[in-house]
Amino acid sequence: MSDTDGPIRILGIESSCDETSAAVVEDGRHILSNLVSSQDETHRPYGGVVPELASRQHLSKVGPLVAAALEKAGLSLGDIGSVAVTQGPGLVGSLLVGLSFGKSIAYACGIPLLSVDHLEGHIRSVYLEAHRPISHPAISLVVSGGHTSLFLMEEEANYRLLGKTRDDAAGEAYDKVAKHLGLGYPGGPILDKLAALGDAQRFPLPIAKISDGSEDFSFSGLKTAVLRETKRHEIVALRPDEKAENRRDIVDLAASFQRTVVETLWRRTDSAARRTGAKTILVSGGVAANRELRQRFAHLAQEIGIPVLFPSLSLSTDNAAMIAAAGYLKFLRKDYAGLDLTADVELRLGEQGVRRASRHL
Ligand code: KG4
Ligand code: ZN
Repeated sequence: MSDTDGPIRILGIESSCDETSAAVVEDGRHILSNLVSSQDETHRPYGGVVPELASRQHLSKVGPLVAAALEKAGLSLGDIGSVAVTQGPGLVGSLLVGLSFGKSIAYACGIPLLSVDHLEGHIRSVYLEAHRPISHPAISLVVSGGHTSLFLMEEEANYRLLGKTRDDAAGEAYDKVAKHLGLGYPGGPILDKLAALGDAQRFPLPIAKISDGSEDFSFSGLKTAVLRETKRHEIVALRPDEKAENRRDIVDLAASFQRTVVETLWRRTDSAARRTGAKTILVSGGVAANRELRQRFAHLAQEIGIPVLFPSLSLSTDNAAMIAAAGYLKFLRKDYAGLDLTADVELRLGEQGVRRASRHL
């Protein structure tokens, strides 16, 4: 087993949803390899992830991917100091595949096992690439297909949940709207591309207000409003013989939808940043790949005078490098998982923090 004197190389394994990924990260910062096998083709005909199919694909992909990630890093299993696996949240059948595989490696090689919260993985993707120290307190927005959560980080690796979605995640709304318009799966990148061509003012869509004043999000109302507009204006789904770029109604609806999503995310993030005196805004998760979101956030954050940091595009969507990087923090604390580790689909990053904080008040 490697010890802390030499570089620590962590093998990361991610399989929480529909991407299988394996990576090797050295000392929590240097990505030696990061391979992702996407299942988009498998789930495309259904317009969303089919859990049973996802687990089966993980099962056939995880072994070869781990072998390929080691080979790309120029390493063998004997060079690995620890294995980090995603424990949750996610689809249980999918999680169990990566987790079991990681456990077996840890057991066979006699190296520590590290359990990682997928959301912390997304947040660590920003730290992984940061060129200079990140100032805290920071507001961290995780926005993906399964989550839309806002955290206050008083310091690095300290998370307090401020708000989360009460219904659909932002990425989920993208995927559902795209499905309704016959655009394909995953909807985020498709709508993002189309939105750049459209008139965002054409369809007035509502920004959800949370009446109890919390920093929660809600996107199901927006999705319903988009469906209502399609009925009102008789916008029919794209036919197989049509090009989406040539459908002015769909392009304008994509632009209006995207503008509303980005505006909603910004309003909540901005108010949390001002209220908490944040010195940095971090944005991560699949939707952080969105072009308009990156531009608007960068521009608006400049106006309020604090930096906004994103991971690179390849680290925005699910990947195992972020899991290895998050595992490294646990490795340093010797916070190892036992071989009885099981998946936890409802891991709640930062929620204990809320309870702890209120006890101290
Ligand atoms: O983080 P991720 O890979 O998986 C989850 O943890 O959910 O995020 C996937 C989500 C999908 O809903 C996808 O449509 C969305 O991220 N997404 C985007 C873009 N690229 C991916 N949403 C908006 N704009 C994009 N460019
Ligand atoms: Zn994710």
